[in-house]
Amino acid sequence: MKVLLINGSPNAKGCTYTALSEVEKILNENNIETEMIQIGNKAIRGCIGCGGCKSTKRCVFDDDLVNEVIAKMESADGLIIGSPVYFASPNGNLMSMLDRMFYAGDCFAHKPAAAVVSARRAGTTVSLDDLNKYFSIRQMLTVGSTYWNMVHGSKPEDVLCDEEGLQTMRNLGRNMAWILKCIEAGAATGIKAPAAEREKWTNFIRN
Ligand SMILES: Cc1cc2nc3c(=O)[nH]c(=O)nc-3n(C[C@H](O)[C@H](O)[C@H](O)COP(=O)(O)O)c2cc1C
Repeated sequence: MKVLLINGSPNAKGCTYTALSEVEKILNENNIETEMIQIGNKAIRGCIGCGGCKSTKRCVFDDDLVNEVIAKMESADGLIIGSPVYFASPNGNLMSMLDRMFYAGDCFAHKPAAAVVSARRAGTTVSLDDLNKYFSIRQMLTVGSTYWNMVHGSKPEDVLCDEEGLQTMRNLGRNMAWILKCIEAGAATGIKAPAAEREKWTNFIRN
């Protein structure tokens, strides 16, 4: 089993990386394979809503990481997205990528997912809300921890002093590993993910 971790920070080894690494360590200790990729330093264009991805399940712009990350997600069993907080939101490049990735891809349903954010001080819960919405609309199973999934600091050394933040990351890793094993055990006994109804798509309700 494998979990894909996406670091949406431009800092390859910054605070977000430090938080994600703490989750990754616990996943690995529980025999869950991991792959961490960094996308926050890439110039990633936004979605243009062309709908070209409907049939291909790939973004029409094959100009950056988006289609590559979709391919990685297709073979992953779980997902963790980390971001620094920028003006009380996740990183803009990350959001551009997620809009395109979650609109084009068809590889998310029934996989566990979690968002992790890092801030110097504030804007964490609203940033978590932004990221968690991608999971809920794609039938992912949001994994929680013992506090909201956040760490605080301006540099990795600060995060390493955020003992509760790191504890929250470790507990998130344990919960993610556990749910992955539950899903695997369920599948082995014949419990399949439910098929979703899809025929209704109303833009607004009429009488
Ligand atoms: C453009 C920009 C905006 C930021 N906005 C916030 C903010 O709204 N709230 C906050 O607490 N920290 C803010 N920060 C600080 C970062 O969120 C914080 O230092 C974070 O831990 C950096 O993570 P990283 O090392 O993974 O990049 C901002 C930093 C930048 C560069």
